[in-house]
Amino acid sequence: MSKIALGVTGGIGAYKAVEGARGLQKAGHDVVVVMTRAATEFVGPLTFEAITRHRVITGQFEPGANADIEHIALASSIDLLLVAPATANIIGKFAGGIADDFLCSLYLATRAPVLLAPAMNSNMWAHDAVQGNLRTLRARGAAIVEPGEGFLACGWVGPGRLAEPPEIVAAAEAIVRPAQTLSGRHVLVSGGPTYEDIDPVRFVGNRSSGRMGYAVAAEAARRGASVTLVSGPTQIPAPEGVDLVRVRSAREMHEAVVSRVAGADVVVMAAAVADYAPIRAAGKIAKDGDELVLRMTRTPDILAELGSRRAAGEWPRTLLVGFAAETSDVVARAGDKRRRKQVDLIVANDVSGDDRGFDTEENAVTLIAADGEDELTLRPKADVARAILDRVERMLPRLAGTAQPAAAGGE
Ligand code: C5P
Repeated sequence: MSKIALGVTGGIGAYKAVEGARGLQKAGHDVVVVMTRAATEFVGPLTFEAITRHRVITGQFEPGANADIEHIALASSIDLLLVAPATANIIGKFAGGIADDFLCSLYLATRAPVLLAPAMNSNMWAHDAVQGNLRTLRARGAAIVEPGEGFLACGWVGPGRLAEPPEIVAAAEAIVRPAQTLSGRHVLVSGGPTYEDIDPVRFVGNRSSGRMGYAVAAEAARRGASVTLVSGPTQIPAPEGVDLVRVRSAREMHEAVVSRVAGADVVVMAAAVADYAPIRAAGKIAKDGDELVLRMTRTPDILAELGSRRAAGEWPRTLLVGFAAETSDVVARAGDKRRRKQVDLIVANDVSGDDRGFDTEENAVTLIAADGEDELTLRPKADVARAILDRVERMLPRLAGTAQPAAAGGE
């Protein structure tokens, strides 16, 4: 049983939250309802109180609410903050860090996962301000149950209708009770860029934020795997329950990854490893002349090395996943890379636009394996991570069986 705070905000969809609360309870969860003032104009708190058998929190300053600084107490005891319906107003307040009522304060105070089910008029939904705020919230890890299309209370027809309660309950369940499908497995993930020193103060790097690898590591841990994340320099926090190994250069990443492959069921190389590293100057290079020529040498191709060592019989049961960032002929080039590097799955990434791939919140990828391709439309990196691991899980039983080793890319 999980404890779920259900935030209800002031939209006509608030009535559907009653059914949502009931569904969560039927699924065995303890639900505490927090209503904004506007929500109470649509549905009476008593309705929720009768269903949840808990006092409904309707204000920051109501008597009793401050005896134990309730939003802090609730914030630290919940497993999920779900807001359904989430109005444009609450989405904006969450994104902006406003704390002028109980629900906003709860959002800031909790470290529990956050799930939002937006509902609003179609034009409000499409507005850059709302979409920008949602991107901000997604980037902080919030999950969104997309609104449906249809006849809206305002008389319009279009996107913006609150998702149906069973869909919201299923999304909440997927967060608080992810199936432990990777339990007993060890997953090794690399993420982030590498920095290659030019001299003692300068380096060359790349724009990888690390979000994709971190999302894969976080999702694998949620599915019960023991996870090691070898990370280049990033600005993002380590996912919960993951063993984090920090490295800086391609050479360090090579050493950290290769020394940990034994025993791994899956290796996901999501890191943007530098292909060339400067020959490091012992002292700071003086500013001298109009041009500076850097001599660079190839770094070890970690993934290719793993593929060829596996083909030679080392780690026969380890599934290998790589990424391929391309700007043209994406799928063909990535498929070729999969065969050349002798890996099982390549996540092909079109990085020609600036809304996806490197240093963004979202990604559109094609998963390429020996038995076919899956094209995934633009979506948050957490969703891409789920799709990658779903595909990996389908490939794992073949590895766990004794009949044949991994179908490496060399066929
Ligand atoms: O050849 P390319 O760099 O496009 O291949 C990308 C894939 O190879 C990614 O999975 C990346 O993590 C991995 N890679 C590596 N070592 C390198 C360069 C890339 O493991 N030196």
